Amino acid sequence: MSKVMDAKVLAVYPVAPETYYMELAAPDIARLAVPGQFVHVRCSDAQEPLLRRPLSIHMVSRPQGVLALLFRVVGKGTALLAQRQPGDSVNLMGPLGRGFTLPLPGSKVAVAAGGIGAAPLVFLVQELANLKCQVTVYVGARDKKNLLCDGQFAQLDAEVVIATDDGSLGFKGTVPELMRRHLDWRRTAMCYVCGPRAMMQEVSAMLSEADVPGEVSLEEKMGCGVGACLSCAVQIQHHGEISTKRVCADGPVFPSWQVVWE
Ligand SMILES: Cc1cc2nc3c(=O)[nH]c(=O)nc-3n(C[C@H](O)[C@H](O)[C@H](O)COP(=O)(O)OP(=O)(O)OC[C@H]3O[C@@H](n4cnc5c(N)ncnc54)[C@H](O)[C@@H]3O)c2cc1C
Ligand code: FES
Repeated sequence: MSKVMDAKVLAVYPVAPETYYMELAAPDIARLAVPGQFVHVRCSDAQEPLLRRPLSIHMVSRPQGVLALLFRVVGKGTALLAQRQPGDSVNLMGPLGRGFTLPLPGSKVAVAAGGIGAAPLVFLVQELANLKCQVTVYVGARDKKNLLCDGQFAQLDAEVVIATDDGSLGFKGTVPELMRRHLDWRRTAMCYVCGPRAMMQEVSAMLSEADVPGEVSLEEKMGCGVGACLSCAVQIQHHGEISTKRVCADGPVFPSWQVVWE
C-alpha cells in the first residue's frame, strides 16, 4: 500500500556534478519500501511542473524513519528539487512499483550499476548484505568524477569493480565489457542491473547466453505513477507472447529475458 505525505528535508547536498543526495523524514514510506521501488515526487509547490517525477528509493533507515534519494539534475523538476533546503517539505507518493526479487540467503550475486542507475542498487545491496550474500558490484561511469556509490557498496561489504569510459579510474571501458572479462557466470546465482538502456540490453543478452537469471530496472517517462494513464508502457514477452506492461505498476523491475528492447 502506498502513502501520500509531506516529508521534511533533513539534508541535501551535491555528491557529483549535477547529482544530489537528499534525506527525507518519511517513516511510513521507509517502513513499507523494498529495494527497486520508487517514490513519485512533487518537485515544486508551484503549478509547474504539474506532474510528479519518479525517483528510486536510494536507501532507507527504518529505525530513524529516513528515506534517501539520489538524483541527477536533467530538467526543470530535478533542478527545482535540488534547490530545496533542510526544513522544507516535499510531497511524496510511495512506495510505488514492484521491486527486485531477493535471492536465497548466502547466494553469490552480481550487480551492474551504470551512472545514476546506481541509485536504487544501494538499497538492494543493503538487503543483500542482510541476507549474507556474496555480492560483486560492477560500477561504471563516464569518468572518475561521475562515479556514484562505489564507497557505499564497499561499506556494505560488496566487492566493487570499477569501469570508466575514459579510464580515469579502474577498467577503461563499459560495465558489460568489464563483466565479460571479470565475471565467472557459472558461480553466479542472480544478476541485478540498472543503468543506461544500452547497457541493460547488453548485460541482459550476456545473461541469456550464460543462462543466469537477471532483473533490470526500467525507466520510462511517467504520468500518474499508479497504472492508470499508460504513459509508461513497455513491451514484455512471456512464453512467446508479447504484451504491454506499465513500468510504474508492473515494474519498474522486470526479468531481464522478458524485456523487448527494440
Ligand atoms: C522508476 C524510475 C526511477 C527513477 N529513479 C531515478 C533516480 O533514482 N535518480 C534519478 O536521477 N533519476 C531517476 N529516474 C529518472 C527521473 O525520473 C527523470 O530524470 C526525471 O523525471 C526528470 O524530470 P525533470 O523535470 O528534471 O526533467 P524533464 O524536463 O521532464 O526531462 C529532461 C530530460 O530527461 C528525460 N526524461 C524525463 N523523464 C525521464 C524518465 N523517467 N526516464 C528517462 N528519461 C527521462 C526527458 O526526455 C528529457 O530529455 C527514474 C525514472 C523512473 C521511471
Ligand atoms: S505512469 Fe500512468 S500508467 Fe504508468
